[in-house]
Amino acid sequence: MESVPFYPVNDFGPLMKGMVIGGIGILHVFLAQFAIGGGMLLLYFERLAQRGKEPDARRFVDGYFQILVLVSFVLGALTGVAMWFTTIQVGARTIGVMVDQFHWLWATEWVCFSVEVVAGYAFVRAGQRLGDRARLRLLALYALASWFSLFWINGILSWQLTPGRYLESGSVWAGFFNPSFWPSLIFRTFVAMALAALAACLVINTLDMERERRAALIRRASRFAAPMVLMPVLALWWVAVMPADSRSWIMGGSIAMTMFVGIAAGSSVLIGGYAVVALLIKRLYVNAATALLLLALAFGATAAGEFVREGARKPYTVRGVLYSTSITPAEVSELRRTGAAAADPYPLRDAAAYPSEQLRHGAKALRVLCDACHTMHGGNSLVHLTATWTDDQLRLNIAKLQRTKGFMPPFAGNAEDVEAIIQLIKWEVADRPSRWPESGDPATLAQITRWLDEAGVK
Ligand code: HEC
Repeated sequence: MESVPFYPVNDFGPLMKGMVIGGIGILHVFLAQFAIGGGMLLLYFERLAQRGKEPDARRFVDGYFQILVLVSFVLGALTGVAMWFTTIQVGARTIGVMVDQFHWLWATEWVCFSVEVVAGYAFVRAGQRLGDRARLRLLALYALASWFSLFWINGILSWQLTPGRYLESGSVWAGFFNPSFWPSLIFRTFVAMALAALAACLVINTLDMERERRAALIRRASRFAAPMVLMPVLALWWVAVMPADSRSWIMGGSIAMTMFVGIAAGSSVLIGGYAVVALLIKRLYVNAATALLLLALAFGATAAGEFVREGARKPYTVRGVLYSTSITPAEVSELRRTGAAAADPYPLRDAAAYPSEQLRHGAKALRVLCDACHTMHGGNSLVHLTATWTDDQLRLNIAKLQRTKGFMPPFAGNAEDVEAIIQLIKWEVADRPSRWPESGDPATLAQITRWLDEAGVK
């Protein structure tokens, strides 16, 4: 077997690595989906204007587009680049596997994105001088290219949770059109439309025209938010195709995730329901403040939804292929023999802060095996989780990590690693005293080895 590759990982203090990625990811997804829905919405409004159905629609198109471009190109591109910067610092191997597997599909996504940028920029610069047909074509190109960039990236991201038949055949297309591909593509399309509609309500409120005219435009826009009411159906579809253990967490196994599913589904239904009942049936007017509130609600729903999607994948970043620790299932037994960090060439950032060699050993093993999901004192803090535990309880639970909690991968190290991590946690619980005795009683290590063997490597 090839040796396990190590990459330098960065440390974000009290921020859990998963949370750093998650935070930037949520913002990026929100902006990107807004851009996609915006393209579709503009195409719709331009058609309304050209067919003479909505005489003011054109003013809206030209005004809205500036905002769309500003928000989605500038912030979207910045957060997109930030995503790459953080993934290479947090999960270089995961992103490497993804780029490797979907090389050409990902390249295609970038082509779509380039077309989107060029079409969008051309429209901003020249849109007002173009004839009707050219305007419509340019907008259609923009909308199509941006939706297709979602199409491609959606296949790659949904593959992480449900690789499906890819696991047997290794086929790129089986991985791409995986079981959760369609529910998440349709769902994201609906979300994109709703975000665009809500942002449109904001922009329409700033247009200088009679309230009646604005109300008419708002009613048109609200049609785009209405599909959100179908969210529960799509969520059920998604839940039905996901792996059984991930499903069990969402259905109460992990109460935090269950609540987030509820928040995401509930807010989406509220937004869609408001669009249907208040805007389309009752024909109410939505002012800027309400539109902004609804957008904030949509942001909350996006955040909760993305949290669940990322969380449900644990302990994998790519299910069955790679654990969240960037270790493959096949490598676990090798690391049980060699030790987790034996081949890790990267030094500790503050090696001198530890009073003993064993604690330094523990810090390195922890960095490889636990840091992806835990911090010492911040997010998902090990000190808090274990403060009340006895030594043997710590040893048993960490040696049998995958049986302690299904979120965690099997312990990919030897008995010395377990003991060093435990001493490190105890030292932190004791508030980092300047001296700390080394432990290493052979009987204790033999007991840990037995526990590691009992837990197995699966
Ligand atoms: C894939 C992510 C992941 C990895 C890697 C991981 N954990 Fe966890 N761990 C979790 C989650 C999620 C929980 C549940 C936290 C909760 O219940 O609040 C958890 C819980 C725990 C608990 C508390 C268990 C309990 O029953 O209360 C301990 C102790 C723990 N982890 C130690 C470790 C150690 C030590 C490592 C490294 C050897 C590690 N974990 C690696 C995600 C992970």
